[in-house]
Amino acid sequence: TTVEWEAESYDMGGHDTYMHKEIAEQPDAVDRVLRGRIDDRFATVRLGGLNLDARAARGVRRVKILGCGSAYHAGQIGAQMIEELARIPADAEPASEFRYRNAVVDPDTLYIATSQSGETYDTLAAVQELKRKGAMVLGVVNVVGSAIARETDGGVYVHAGPEVCVVSTKCFTNTAVAFALLALHLGRIRDLSVADGRRIIEGLRRLPAQIAEILREEDRIAQLAKDFADARSMMFVGRVRGFPVAKEASLKLKEVSYIHAEAYPASELKHGPLALIEPAVPTVAIIPDDELLEKNRATLEEIKARSGRILAVAHEEQPKADETLVVPRNEPELDPVLMGIPLQLLAYHTALALGRDIDKPRNLAKSVTVE
Ligand code: AGP
Repeated sequence: TTVEWEAESYDMGGHDTYMHKEIAEQPDAVDRVLRGRIDDRFATVRLGGLNLDARAARGVRRVKILGCGSAYHAGQIGAQMIEELARIPADAEPASEFRYRNAVVDPDTLYIATSQSGETYDTLAAVQELKRKGAMVLGVVNVVGSAIARETDGGVYVHAGPEVCVVSTKCFTNTAVAFALLALHLGRIRDLSVADGRRIIEGLRRLPAQIAEILREEDRIAQLAKDFADARSMMFVGRVRGFPVAKEASLKLKEVSYIHAEAYPASELKHGPLALIEPAVPTVAIIPDDELLEKNRATLEEIKARSGRILAVAHEEQPKADETLVVPRNEPELDPVLMGIPLQLLAYHTALALGRDIDKPRNLAKSVTVE
């Protein structure tokens, strides 16, 4: 497949920063990762470069996803999607850890390396170690022809277009969608029903317009960001599908605003981090309307009881939260794709309020090509 990067140039296109431009491009970027891949007849997707035939796909016993930073978080979302839709045990691990721990390399495991640049040294080193040990390794990569794309046996291109800002936004979102495609594909080869395949396809098709709808809330998010700019530290919490979203949102805020942030599974708060909650440490809670809604509401009460400020990202107003950013409903498996979007804008506007160098945060490089 070829990518039409001409459509999006390196021009700022009227935006003040690349980060803002890249956040705004997400409806188009998601449209592009879907384009030409949906197969309505079989309620699945066609992934031309995957190089994994149906027999091999059926033989996969486990999936291990490797990446760093935002790519690792997108991989965590991907692992959950693969477990849910294809019922294959799956998890994600930082490539930077995996490569140093003499991991057991299992011939029935499908390894997937994910990277925006395709040049991150730790991820590349993990791929090379896996290949040396005879493992099957696919890539979920943005930059076509990059080192990781070349060294993997096949994979799914993310088609986010060029991402210039050091802080990843559109590539994170597109990577999560690329994993949804892969999960759907594996699911439909295994036990996912036609009806569920159709349900996910319809959900995928709704994403670009729903992202555009979230982006229209920018003025309100900018207003909220001004309140958060004086926070000493921030907590981001979510459960299961919401947890990788919390981790990514926490990383985004740290990178661009330099405000300290922690991400925790909401279920773990009572095992220690609740001690941090006070008015100067607000919480952002990811609360989709899924089977964990009541549990999440109980968490909000625990935080409120310690006089913590709460911003909820949810499908409807949360009475226990001080503010709620309402995102459109989609299929539960795709909630993580949408719930991260308002929090990119929150990080952006918090950094703007604090006068940070948004496209080039201190101490960071776009791709980490050294050990
Ligand atoms: C994202 O905002 C970060 N700057 C960083 O964590 C990044 O995702 C990581 O370095 C991996 O980069 P890659 O996707 O190019 O491999």
